[in-house]
Amino acid sequence: MSPNATSSPSRSAFDRKNPLLARVARRELLTAGCDEKETWHFEIDLRDSGLEFLPGDSLAIFPQNDPALADEILRHLGFSGEETVTAPGDGGEKPLRAALIENCAITALDRKFLGKLVEKAGDQADEIARLLDPDHKDAYEHFVWGREIIDCLIRHPGLGWEPQEFVDVLKKLNVRLYSIASSLKARPNACHLTIALVEYESRGRRRRGVCSSWLPHRTDENTPIPCFVTPGKGFRPPAPDEDVPVVMIGPGTGVAPFRAFLQEREVTGAKGKAWLFFGEIHEETCFFYRDEWERQLRDGVLHRLTTAWSRDQAQKVYVQHKVAEEGAELWKWLEEGAILYVCGDAQRMAPDVDKALHEVIATHGGRTPEQAAEYVARMRQEKRYRRDVY
Ligand SMILES: Cc1cc2nc3c(=O)[nH]c(=O)nc-3n(C[C@H](O)[C@H](O)[C@H](O)COP(=O)(O)OP(=O)(O)OC[C@H]3O[C@@H](n4cnc5c(N)ncnc54)[C@H](O)[C@@H]3O)c2cc1C
Ligand SMILES: NC(=O)c1ccc[n+]([C@@H]2O[C@H](COP(=O)([O-])OP(=O)(O)OC[C@H]3O[C@@H](n4cnc5c(N)ncnc54)[C@H](OP(=O)(O)O)[C@@H]3O)[C@@H](O)[C@H]2O)c1
Repeated sequence: MSPNATSSPSRSAFDRKNPLLARVARRELLTAGCDEKETWHFEIDLRDSGLEFLPGDSLAIFPQNDPALADEILRHLGFSGEETVTAPGDGGEKPLRAALIENCAITALDRKFLGKLVEKAGDQADEIARLLDPDHKDAYEHFVWGREIIDCLIRHPGLGWEPQEFVDVLKKLNVRLYSIASSLKARPNACHLTIALVEYESRGRRRRGVCSSWLPHRTDENTPIPCFVTPGKGFRPPAPDEDVPVVMIGPGTGVAPFRAFLQEREVTGAKGKAWLFFGEIHEETCFFYRDEWERQLRDGVLHRLTTAWSRDQAQKVYVQHKVAEEGAELWKWLEEGAILYVCGDAQRMAPDVDKALHEVIATHGGRTPEQAAEYVARMRQEKRYRRDVY
C-alpha cells in the first residue's frame, strides 16, 4: 500500500491528559419508531479546536456516571455526598458525590472491590471469597456478569465504609471509544459518531451503559464532552489513487467507520469499487444513513449495497448470510485484490463473518477448507483483511 494522506498517523494536540472539551452540535435518533433498540447519531462541534483525525480513527470520550445511581450508592452507604475525598486519577479533592459521578467507576465489579468487600463482611461474604480463588475463574466471571457494585451494597449493608476507603477501592472512570463516522475532508469542523445505547435487565434492575446513556440522555448542547482521538492502527481506506476494490462489512454501529471511508472516498475521488454490507434489526426503522448510501450509489461512490434485516422475518438474516448469498460476486472482488474490512461486534458477528468468508473462498474459489484458510491467512498478511471489532 502506498504511503498517502489517509495512511499517515493522526496528529492532534489533545490526548488523555489534555482532552478537548467539545460540545454536541446535533443529535438524531437513528432508530426512531423502533422500540427494541436505541442508536444515536451525534455531531461533535470541532470549530476552532484543531482536533484532527483520519478515517478509521476513534474518538475516546470521558463519560459521567448517572447521578441517580451515585445517589443510590450514597444512600446505601449512609453518606450525604458532601464528604470531601481525594478522587482517583487527576480528580483531586472534591465532594464524594461529585467524585462518584465524575471520576470513579461505580458500576462494574472487579477483584479489588470484591476483595475489600470480603475483608469487611467476613463470614457473610464467604461465597464471594471462594470466587476470588484463581481456580474459580469461570464461577467468578459468571458472578460478575450482570451484577454491579450497587447489588453488593444492597446485599451486604452496614459494613461501616469510610468515604475515602470506598473511593480508594473503585477504579478510575475510563474513556469509551467510538469509531468516527465522518471524514474531516468532507465535514470540516465536525466529528460524527454512531452510538448504540447499551441497555439490559439483570437481577430485576434495568441497567444502562455509562457512556452510551450519558451522551444521549444526560448531556445537552452546553455539556463539555472531554475527548481525544485514538488512531485506527491500520484500519484505513486505500489511497485515493489506488485502484483497489473495497468490501466493508459493518452491521449495527459497525457501519460508522465506513461512513467516514465513503465520505473521504467521495471528496478525494477515490478509484476502485466499493461494496457495503449493512445489517440491523428492521429495515423500516433501523436503516441508518439510508439516504446517504442511496445517493452514493447513484453517484457511483458506492457500487453495491447489501442489507440484512435480522428481525423482519421469522428466521434471523445476518450479514454473513448475505456474504454467502453473494459469494460468487464476492469471490470475483477478492480475486481482483479487494480489501475486506469488518467492523462491529467482536463476540458473535466477526467470527461468523470470518466463517462465511472461508466458505465463500472454498465454494466459489474451488478450495479445500485448508486452502481457504491459507487464502485468508495470505489476505491478512497482505493487509487485505482488516478488522476493527469490539
Ligand atoms: C475501537 C472501538 C470502537 C468502538 N466504536 C463504537 C461505535 O462506533 N459505536 C458504539 O456504540 N460503540 C462503539 N464501541 C463500544 C464502546 O466503546 C462502548 O464499549 C459501548 O458504548 C458501551 O459503553 P458504555 O459506557 O455505554 O457501557 P458500560 O458502562 O461500559 O457497560 C458495558 C458493560 O455492560 C455489561 N453488559 C452489557 N450488556 C450486558 C448484558 N446483556 N448482560 C449483562 N451485562 C451486560 C458488560 O460488562 C459490558 O462490558 C467501540 C469500542 C471500541 C473498542
Ligand atoms: N457481546 C455481546 O453479546 C453483544 C451483543 C450485542 C451487542 N453488543 C455490543 O453492543 C454494542 C452495540 O451493538 P450494535 O447495536 O452496534 O449492533 P448489534 O447488537 O451487533 O446488532 C446489529 C445487527 O447485527 C445482528 N447480529 C446479531 N448477532 C449477529 C451475528 N452473530 N452475526 C451477524 N449479525 C448479528 C443483530 O441482530 P439481532 O439483534 O436481531 O440478533 C442486528 O441486526 C456494541 O458495542 C456491540 O459490541 C455485544
